[in-house]
Amino acid sequence: MAKKRKILFVDDEPNILQGLKRMLRSMRHEWEMDFVESGKNALELMTQHPFDVVVSDMRMPGMSGADLLENVMNKYPQTVRIVLSGHSDRDMILRSVRTAHQYLSKPCDAEMLISTVSRACSLREIMLNDEMKRLVSKMDSLPSLPTLYMEIMNELQSPESSMKNVGGIIEKDIGMSAKILQLVNSAFFGLPRHVASPGQAVSLLGMEVVKSLALAVQVFSQFDQSRLKNLSLDALWHHSEAVGHFSKKIYESESKDTNYIGYALIAGFLHDIGKLIFMSNFPEKYDSMIAESREKEIPLSSVELDSFGVTHGEVGAYLLSLWGLPDLVVEAIAHHHSPSRIPVKVLSPLAVVHAANIIEHELSTKENCDIAHPVDIAYFDEAGLADRLSAWKEICLKSIQTGD
Ligand SMILES: [Fe+2]
Ligand SMILES: [Fe+2]
Repeated sequence: MAKKRKILFVDDEPNILQGLKRMLRSMRHEWEMDFVESGKNALELMTQHPFDVVVSDMRMPGMSGADLLENVMNKYPQTVRIVLSGHSDRDMILRSVRTAHQYLSKPCDAEMLISTVSRACSLREIMLNDEMKRLVSKMDSLPSLPTLYMEIMNELQSPESSMKNVGGIIEKDIGMSAKILQLVNSAFFGLPRHVASPGQAVSLLGMEVVKSLALAVQVFSQFDQSRLKNLSLDALWHHSEAVGHFSKKIYESESKDTNYIGYALIAGFLHDIGKLIFMSNFPEKYDSMIAESREKEIPLSSVELDSFGVTHGEVGAYLLSLWGLPDLVVEAIAHHHSPSRIPVKVLSPLAVVHAANIIEHELSTKENCDIAHPVDIAYFDEAGLADRLSAWKEICLKSIQTGD
């Protein structure tokens, strides 16, 4: 039997802890749970044995949840940190953006809590496996988190943050400004009028979208085509742009949740970033792996798994989790070729990026370095989405035809 996961719940209100205990009784065969009433007690217990996950309240007398998670991050970086907090704690939550992997708001139902904890755990198991550690130790270059993206994130956290300021940050970088404007004015976004400034782009498309574009543009600009032979940076950019756009369109057709739509877009844009990481660290080897995948007509990720022990999805996800991108984005990138590997099968950025990637391969007339992967039918069946696939393809096809 699989090892039980150790989960620690921290909340200063005994009633809430009691409620959680009752609600999670059904998990006692899979989880070993502890419940404590303060950050101090939590840290004390953690010195006795390690925990896989800490779920903490934010507003507590003495040590706040933000301070506790900061402590946990420094002392036990492997532990998953989840905030479970009241809606009114916006300021407190902002204080923990750097240290928490996931946020849940009270009241939270059992299903949501269980699926969030399970997803976070299985994601980390992949990130921290021995193959990944071995591989990363052999790499000499991992791209760094673009500073512009960091500046935007900081701006969004300040109480006076405004769309105008975010536009202003992008405007300072002329190259980035030009690239963003070129993107938003492309047929993909189908905007009714010409967008003349990044500030205008933000107000028309929303902060999430522009932030994602800025990140994608900067990530790609860190790679250098001269080191890549069998992989065209240009072709990968076009593929990524299309998958990002399709993911957004598909998600919008299913849900109004702007956060999730933004996650789908960014995950679509960056889903193949692992290929660039392989390429820049192991140029010759990866080049011949791409050739092998084409010759034998086997998916590139199978060749990667044989040689490196991990796929481009997992390596890309590893990087994005280091950068602190949201778990749903990291999860979508990690498993974009095999979503069934995660326990929770629902409409998610992962489901959408998996589909969008396959649809892009089918619809694209351009040459691509990837041999198409099959659709993970089992996943869509279980998620109750199997009958949506043809509609999704229609949406993508229409968006190419109408330039919207
Ligand atoms: Fe891929
Ligand atoms: Fe792809």
